[in-house]
Amino acid sequence: MLGPEADLLVQLAEHRLLGRLAVLDAALRELPRVGAQPLAPEDLIASVEQDDADVGPEALPVEHNLTPILELSASCTARVRARKRGNRRRSPRRRPVGRRPRPAPAWSTAAMRASRFFVSTLKEAPADAEVASHRLMMRAGLIKRLAAGIYSYMPMGLRVIRKVEAIIREEMNRAGAVELLMPVVQPAELWQESGRFQAYGPELLRVKDRHQRDFVVQPTSEEVITDIARQELRSYKQLPRNFYHIQTKFRDERRPRFGLMRGREFTMKDAYSFDRDAQGAARSYAAMVDAYKRIFDRFGLQYRAVAADSGAIGGDLSQEFQVIADTGEDQLVYCPTSDYAANIELAEAVAPAHARAAPKHALAKMPTPDRTTCEDVATLLGIPLTSTVKSLVLASDRKDAAGHATGTTIWLLLVRGDHSLNEVKAGKLPGLKDGWRFATRSEIEDHFGCETGYLGPIFPGTGHDKAVRVVADRTVAAMSDFVCGANEADFHFTGVNWGRDLPEPDLVADIRNVVAGDPSPDGQGVLAIQRGIEVGHVFYLGTKYSAAMNAVYLDEAGKPQPMEMGCYGIGVTRILGAAIEQGHDERGIVWPAAIAPFEAVICPIGIDRSDAVREAATALHDELAAAGVDVVLDDRGERPGAMFADWELIGVPWRVVVSERALKAGTLEVQGRRETAATAVPRAEVAAFVKGRLAG
Ligand SMILES: Nc1ncnc2c1ncn2[C@@H]1O[C@H](COP(=O)(O)OP(=O)(O)OP(=O)(O)O)[C@@H](O)[C@H]1O
Ligand SMILES: [Mg+2]
Repeated sequence: MLGPEADLLVQLAEHRLLGRLAVLDAALRELPRVGAQPLAPEDLIASVEQDDADVGPEALPVEHNLTPILELSASCTARVRARKRGNRRRSPRRRPVGRRPRPAPAWSTAAMRASRFFVSTLKEAPADAEVASHRLMMRAGLIKRLAAGIYSYMPMGLRVIRKVEAIIREEMNRAGAVELLMPVVQPAELWQESGRFQAYGPELLRVKDRHQRDFVVQPTSEEVITDIARQELRSYKQLPRNFYHIQTKFRDERRPRFGLMRGREFTMKDAYSFDRDAQGAARSYAAMVDAYKRIFDRFGLQYRAVAADSGAIGGDLSQEFQVIADTGEDQLVYCPTSDYAANIELAEAVAPAHARAAPKHALAKMPTPDRTTCEDVATLLGIPLTSTVKSLVLASDRKDAAGHATGTTIWLLLVRGDHSLNEVKAGKLPGLKDGWRFATRSEIEDHFGCETGYLGPIFPGTGHDKAVRVVADRTVAAMSDFVCGANEADFHFTGVNWGRDLPEPDLVADIRNVVAGDPSPDGQGVLAIQRGIEVGHVFYLGTKYSAAMNAVYLDEAGKPQPMEMGCYGIGVTRILGAAIEQGHDERGIVWPAAIAPFEAVICPIGIDRSDAVREAATALHDELAAAGVDVVLDDRGERPGAMFADWELIGVPWRVVVSERALKAGTLEVQGRRETAATAVPRAEVAAFVKGRLAG
């Protein structure tokens, strides 16, 4: 039982003064019957009775990312109220002294009534909502648009966000990561040190304060965490370390769309590991991959971890966690008969197994008026699309040491007519690594003497024009007797053969996207492709930031060494969109139970007319809540049709209908959101039934 000291702490917590009293920590620690860390909210929660019947939802202001305070406030307020009324009822389920129970989850409230919460549904979605998740989130009242890509998280949506965050926190903590919170607005100096202030591009929101000093609104926090690490982690004895936070991000996306899926302001969990060496960093990375698998398993989403492009850093330690959904922006390549899985940006198109066949046809120039695509040319000539070759013209600008343009190289990239250029692979070619762009119309006309639509690798005059670098995809390099543009309007060449009609390409490389049916790079079968939404990314950073920002530790010999880093992101708010893309039907959202705003809803029919219904519904609510089910009682007095439609739209996994007729029969109708019919369950067994179904 707590003494008055605890009440003092409770009140300090309510007034948010605990943090300011850190200096008193040691003194508070001495107080009798107060936990070892009196300033930690969990201790307070643990020491307050959780099962007081009169605990009600409190409309307390919730600070972003301060879930523990929300829990603390709800529980503690009830306790204080009980005390004020002199209610000293002993709880029958008092916890054994000395055991610290887990705090109640943030969404747990002893009496959740729809009339006192906030349910706000819409019949129609706004016209700009293109995908199901955006439409349904708006209709179910989860979010409200403030500006392009900027949303308020409404109470119903915030419950989902808090559940997502809670799962992430638990698993990150379990994996040994330590939570902190870094600022949203960060001084530009740190970003100049890393080089990202200039390099980031227009997605980075740069702002000035009243003294004209530059700041950024963080899109991620590598700079700040590296700055913390270089100050705090001085010795090899302090490594490894993994810090994370769950914080608001801002990216001024070119095309914010799909609601929370590609917002400008969004919430991300980003973690950063610091290790002594690359082996240590690989272990930290592996621990995060495991944690991510646990996190996404717990969300109850269908996902795939795929190898991802690691950009300039290189190496193979970069994976994306992708939720499978047809509307996803990413293409996931996998081999159904092996473990191979990669983002299409990275997936290798292996060279054809067969050698180039000997030429069979003579070179011929064919009129192809107004046929500017490979498809049109193939149709006109009556040949398969796989006999045609597509020409893409790129440009790379050369610069001197001072960054002034000194000239431009024009590149002709060739892929088979039915294939598409992989721009990420193109950007890795020697000569294009430092940046490329598509050539302008006048650059194309200068170098090819013709417009797009009829371009090809056979140049007018004496063979190969050395001003253009020709890169052939591996498949194209193995082709013979192919068709390509003649660099003359309305004409294509047929029967084209390397070495005979034109020089061998300057470079043969993998520059195309793989297609379904291509051989798997691991030699274990053929590739399949599906779409996904990137919800998480784990990435080995090496010493990119620690070297640029001089984040070193002292090894056993006292020698400074750069720290090896990794970074690990999860798009908290994007997960809502991804989960809905994966789980919805014509009636609305179908949440996985773990992240649903409520696990169950009680729908009483005629609550405003029937005492029996009201009492039974309330008793059932309390019983379910006591059993640990996150349940809401719809006491708004809506007509059954409207009430059912609301909760189906919101996507609550279980619905229990309480009606006079059902009460007379002694059974209640329980229906899962995915089920087409209700099950009649004896009244006394409903709580156990729902609990059992939620448990899987
Ligand atoms: N604009 C956004 N809106 C919502 N979530 C986002 C957004 N951008 C990134 N995220 C989330 O943050 C995670 C980590 O960020 P990361 O820097 O890897 O994103 P990214 O690769 O730039 O994402 P994308 O390719 O979708 O733009 C992503 O896996 C994603 O879930
Ligand atoms: Mg990413």
